[in-house]
Amino acid sequence: MDNIATKIHTVFSEKFSSAPHLFYSPGRINLIGEHVDYNDGFVMPAAINQGIYYAIALNNSNVFNFYSVDFEEALSIKITDIKKSNSWKNYVLGVINEFVLLGLPIKGMDCVFGGNISNGGGLSSSAAVEGGLAFGINELLHFGLSRKELALLCQRAEHKFPGVMCGIMDQYANMNGKKDHVILLDCKSIEHQYFPLHLNGYTIVLINSNVHHSLASSEYNVRRKQCEEGLEILKKEKKINSFRDIQSPEELLPFKNMMGEKVFDRCKYVVEETIRTQKAAKLLQQDNLIEFGKLMYATHEGLSKLYEVSCKELDFLVNLATENKNVIGSRQMGGGFGGCTINIIKNEGIKEFLSHATLAYQKKFQIDTEIYEVGIVDGTREII
Ligand code: GLA
Repeated sequence: MDNIATKIHTVFSEKFSSAPHLFYSPGRINLIGEHVDYNDGFVMPAAINQGIYYAIALNNSNVFNFYSVDFEEALSIKITDIKKSNSWKNYVLGVINEFVLLGLPIKGMDCVFGGNISNGGGLSSSAAVEGGLAFGINELLHFGLSRKELALLCQRAEHKFPGVMCGIMDQYANMNGKKDHVILLDCKSIEHQYFPLHLNGYTIVLINSNVHHSLASSEYNVRRKQCEEGLEILKKEKKINSFRDIQSPEELLPFKNMMGEKVFDRCKYVVEETIRTQKAAKLLQQDNLIEFGKLMYATHEGLSKLYEVSCKELDFLVNLATENKNVIGSRQMGGGFGGCTINIIKNEGIKEFLSHATLAYQKKFQIDTEIYEVGIVDGTREII
């Protein structure tokens, strides 16, 4: 057991008397395919060694007792009283609510959880909190839900309780991660393939901007609505069913006036990113990291200019990367408005780039970055 797992186990023993099961529930990175999971696109995430640990035991009652080690806060609630609350509580309550809605005979549990994942860093700590609990409940009560069903359950939980109308990427990667592999997820069919990640002299490095602009979740839902609006027009006027049916951004041009500038830009980004991610998947299979990296830069450009989910801090970090020949790809990762950039850097250039980037960023914004070299691991699982 590593340090955090031991800590979670110890806190559990201090608070409760039974012997718990221990689970690890990972965060995720995403190589490419951003903001297209809710638009029938493709994404390329992987589960990482930053995540949430859960200690869980049945308690022979109808009460869930939670303790969040990171927030140092407790919550006790009867299964029959589950309703929306706030902050971390919504993630766990939303999950229980979904099991109740499925009509499954859920029973009371004691749960202690906490992790090593940055909150607001765009690594999907929320899906890690949801996934660990859903997996634990499913195991302890032998409900037999598949990983895909659990991912969908967690997505519904996130929609209803925290109220973020997220796509399926985070919850899917959390459940289906595979050590040293990336997942190519088709978000239309919700089916995936794995690719081994051969980095051959390069490393994936995340730079956490350590900013998290408060409009992240409200603007996320606005983007989703704008895409729905654009798609409605396309369905009616072009007789298509999905963004997937559009082969090139030029096909959108006749509808620009009808859509208006913003909705048009959002749709253009979605179509471009869906095409780009399919190209990127081929390049990764051919181990062509250099060309793959160029597509990451193009994604950032689209996220920043057309989709408008970047911010000055992320643009600054990506811009520094473009100026350094050892950084072959860089872009903002996740929902946006803060969090991390994901960078592919030639091993011999890592030190020099990171020391330059951290200094320049600190000088410009008076904020310290955090650097993560993440490992790619299996999805949510029991660890003892
Ligand atoms: C968040 C959401 C995901 C996805 C990304 C952007 O992480 O939870 O579903 O939409 O943003 O790609």
